[in-house]
Amino acid sequence: MHTPRQSPAVAPVLVSLDDGIARLTLNRPDKLNALNYATIDALMAHLDAIETDPAVRAVVLTGAGDRAFSAGGDIREFSGSVARGVAAATQEFVRRGQAMTARIEAFPKPIIVAVNGLAFGGGCEITEAAHLAIASERALFAKPEIRLGMPPTFGGTQRLSRLAGRKRALALLLTGERFSPAQALEMGLVNAVVPHDELIPAASDLARRIVRHAPLAVSAVITAVTRGLNMGIAEGLQVESEQFARMVPTADLAEGLAAWIDGREPLYQGR
Ligand code: COA
Repeated sequence: MHTPRQSPAVAPVLVSLDDGIARLTLNRPDKLNALNYATIDALMAHLDAIETDPAVRAVVLTGAGDRAFSAGGDIREFSGSVARGVAAATQEFVRRGQAMTARIEAFPKPIIVAVNGLAFGGGCEITEAAHLAIASERALFAKPEIRLGMPPTFGGTQRLSRLAGRKRALALLLTGERFSPAQALEMGLVNAVVPHDELIPAASDLARRIVRHAPLAVSAVITAVTRGLNMGIAEGLQVESEQFARMVPTADLAEGLAAWIDGREPLYQGR
C-alpha cells in the first residue's frame, strides 16, 4: 500500500495492512489523540491512498494508547484559528473537519471505527460518520462543544440527530454530558459493545465478514444507503436502481449469480 511519507516516530496516524484490512491508528496518545490539523490531513492522505489501492478492502480506524479514541478537535490549535476571525476559523477548522467526516461517510470501502476509549467531540463525530462502529466497554462518549461556547463543527449537529432522533441528539448536544457505550448502542451510534481485549478482533472480524463479498457491491450498498439517507424515498430508490445498474455489466455480478446457481462459493475479482 502506498502511504504518505512520515517518520514513524512522529506520524500522527499509523497504518498497517493485514489480509486486505487496513488499520489506521490516530497516534497522539499523550494528547488523547486530539485532532490537530496535521492528524486530520494525515488521515485524509491515508484514505486517498487506500481508496485507489485494490489490496485494501476495508478500514479499521482506532486510537493509540489506553485512554482515548479521540478527545476531539485540538482546542489549542483551533483557538488560534478562532482568534484570526471567521474566515480563518471556517477555512482551517470547520471545512477541514467537515471534509474529513464527509470523506469517511462517503468512502467507497467500509470504514469500521473501533472506539477504544474516550470519543469526545470530533472523536464522536468520526464515529457518527463511519459506516460501522464497535465500542470497547471502556469507551466513553460526549458532545462537549457546548461547554466551550460553540456548536459542534464536524457534522455533529447533523448526523447524530439523523441516527438517534432529534430529541436524544439535542439532549446530548445541549447538556454536553457524557454517555456510555450501552447508550451509544441503544441510540444506534455503535453496532456492538465488546470487552476491551476483544475490540480489534471484533472490528477485524466484522471487516472480514464484509470483504468476502464483491467489492463493487459493497461500495454500491454504502453509496445507496449514504446518499439515500439524505434524500426522499423516490430519489433514494433512483440511487438504488443506479447502483444496481452499475453492477449489471460486471464480472462479479455474473460470478455471484453463477456461483449460486452452481451451488459453489463465488470467486470475486473486483471488476
Ligand atoms: N485538544 C487539545 N488537547 C487536548 C484535548 C483537546 N481536545 N483533549 C485533551 N488534550 C490534551 C490535554 O491538554 C493534555 O495535554 P497536556 O498533558 O500537554 O496538558 C492531555 O491531552 C491529557 O488530557 P487531560 O485533560 O490532562 O486529561 P484528563 O483525564 O484530565 O481529561 C478530558 C480528559 C477528555 C475530560 C479533557 O482532556 C477534555 O476535556 N478534553 C477536551 C474535550 C473536548 O472538549 N473536545 C471537543 C473539542 S471541539
